Amino acid sequence: MRKYNVAIVGATGAVGEELFRVLEEVDFPINKIVPLASSKSAGIDIEYKGKNYKVLELTESVFEEQDVEIAFFSAGGSISAQFAPFAAEAGAVVIDNTSHFRMDADVPLVVPECNPGDIAQWKNRGIIANPNCSTIQMVQVLKPLDDIFGIKRVDVSTYQAVSGAGKAGMEELVNQMQDFFAFRLSECEPKTFPYQIALNLIPQIDVFMENDYTKEEMKMVNETQKILGKNIEVSATCVRVPVMRSHSEAITIHFEKDVNVERAVEALRNAENVVVLDDPSKKEYPMPIISTDTNDTFVGRIRKDLNRSNVLHLWCVADQIRVGAATNAVRIAQKWIAMDA
Ligand SMILES: NC(=O)c1ccc[n+]([C@@H]2O[C@H](COP(=O)([O-])OP(=O)(O)OC[C@H]3O[C@@H](n4cnc5c(N)ncnc54)[C@H](OP(=O)(O)O)[C@@H]3O)[C@@H](O)[C@H]2O)c1
Repeated sequence: MRKYNVAIVGATGAVGEELFRVLEEVDFPINKIVPLASSKSAGIDIEYKGKNYKVLELTESVFEEQDVEIAFFSAGGSISAQFAPFAAEAGAVVIDNTSHFRMDADVPLVVPECNPGDIAQWKNRGIIANPNCSTIQMVQVLKPLDDIFGIKRVDVSTYQAVSGAGKAGMEELVNQMQDFFAFRLSECEPKTFPYQIALNLIPQIDVFMENDYTKEEMKMVNETQKILGKNIEVSATCVRVPVMRSHSEAITIHFEKDVNVERAVEALRNAENVVVLDDPSKKEYPMPIISTDTNDTFVGRIRKDLNRSNVLHLWCVADQIRVGAATNAVRIAQKWIAMDA
């Protein structure tokens, strides 16, 4: 099998480190791996398949110099904006985990289980965008139901883990929990989050827009419509919760047709990379302690609305650093190779 020169931009970050793990797990066809980060990390070792690789400083010329063919970007939107065009110029396909290119009309926004055909548009700019972590797990559940019952509207409330804000987010929760047990939590000084996150909930992720929705909420609205290729109504309330890893979502779906719960459950059981955990009698339902470190999207609490026959409620949980970033990006790369694009 043909092997590729693969670069990981943001190799030392939460998503970057997970990319190494997922690439190894799927035995991705790698000829050479090129870890890239900022100057402060240049020279440190990263282990891949038992071998150490030196992190190189990200520069505009490194993609040409290293003959990179596939470049995973997860170092923030401004880094992708500046450096992704150079990677594409050097002939690499860029798979970008940031929000910078997601809503550009000529850049495909892909969840391989929902819209794999859109990958062919990579030729436009050499870039494929990986959606927002909360959007990915939701559309994986919506698509199989939309194919049967036709979705009109979706209302979602998210419970997003602190690792969604990277390593700094995880460190801030751990430090505050230590402060709590040392009876000095009231002295904590939040940096990554607007308020104390330990033993608290924060109904704000990213900045507020003029319409009083947050940027995170509008990403879920706009990206869901782009991926499903239809202007369904979507409303989102995104909340940061003191959980280390895995995002959870309470989703209410309004359909064109009356919904049959048995058929809906069957469709989800047959959906790729979706696991149904749903037996109230046994207290069986998805939770972050189940989904973390897995590549599956878990769904449960699937039930019809008490008043409307075309409305379904469900609960969806997935490891957002994997399903919502690294794993989705690697699955895009695998499809790209298979499409021999
Ligand atoms: N965390 C999630 O759940 C998640 C999910 C989906 C998408 N994303 C997106 O993925 C991106 C990375 O998120 P993360 O959670 O992995 O963040 P993180 O843990 O803070 O890691 C950031 C990475 O970016 C690198 N970086 C920062 N400034 C750089 C520069 N000037 N030049 C080169 N590299 C630089 C850092 O390298 P140094 O160590 O050298 O500073 C580090 O490797 C973000 O855009 C985020 O929105 C994150």
